[in-house]
Amino acid sequence: MVVKTKESAAPFVPEERKLPVLAQAVQKCRGCDLYKNATQAVFGEVDGRDGGAKPKIAIMMIGEQPGDQEDKQGRPFVGPAGKLLDKALEEAEIDRSKVYVTNAVKHFKWEPRGKMRIHKKPGMKEINACRPWLDAELETAKPKLIVALGATAAQGLLGSGFRITQEHGKVQEVDGMPPVIATLHPSAILRAQTDEDRHAQMRMLVEDLKEAKRVAGG
Ligand code: URA
Ligand code: SF4
Repeated sequence: MVVKTKESAAPFVPEERKLPVLAQAVQKCRGCDLYKNATQAVFGEVDGRDGGAKPKIAIMMIGEQPGDQEDKQGRPFVGPAGKLLDKALEEAEIDRSKVYVTNAVKHFKWEPRGKMRIHKKPGMKEINACRPWLDAELETAKPKLIVALGATAAQGLLGSGFRITQEHGKVQEVDGMPPVIATLHPSAILRAQTDEDRHAQMRMLVEDLKEAKRVAGG
């Protein structure tokens, strides 16, 4: 009988807690099947930098997974959702040099539609398999606060019963982790049906980020 072991990134995560070392190692991860159809892994970073050996990071922002642009460029939040996030961070007057941006899952999950690659939501299996990378990032960056962007990141950290619509912008305490504030995913705002919805959602994201700034100490 062939017993398939549980999918996990754990055997691929080095012991060393240095962001550049982890960022290099993730490219060799085979912890689940997602690496097969992706261009490369997309690890976290501080606005284009690897965070260095002794990062000074106040906030770690966690999204879902890289999108099409992120997969091609190898950097998180550089596509349309990233542009919107940049704008929200600016409006909330958050210092980008102290913000580490990453994703719950490091490889792009997609399916073909014609010539396009359509984003496919990662499942719990992939989120759990990829968790050791996120834990290593948390242990290395040691942020004062986590901002979970959207339901995938929030439920991965806070449990599948967590509801952003009800609990967004409020500090959640979880054992063994820095405090977490969950808010909307910028992609959700891009999908808003009306201008009115889009403006209301953008305001919500910016307000939640202002609260994050306050809790993280500026
Ligand atoms: N959406 C995400 O969740 N992460 C990215 O890096 C880009 C889009
Ligand atoms: Fe490894 Fe995560 Fe990529 Fe799966 S998605 S191969 S666990 S880095």
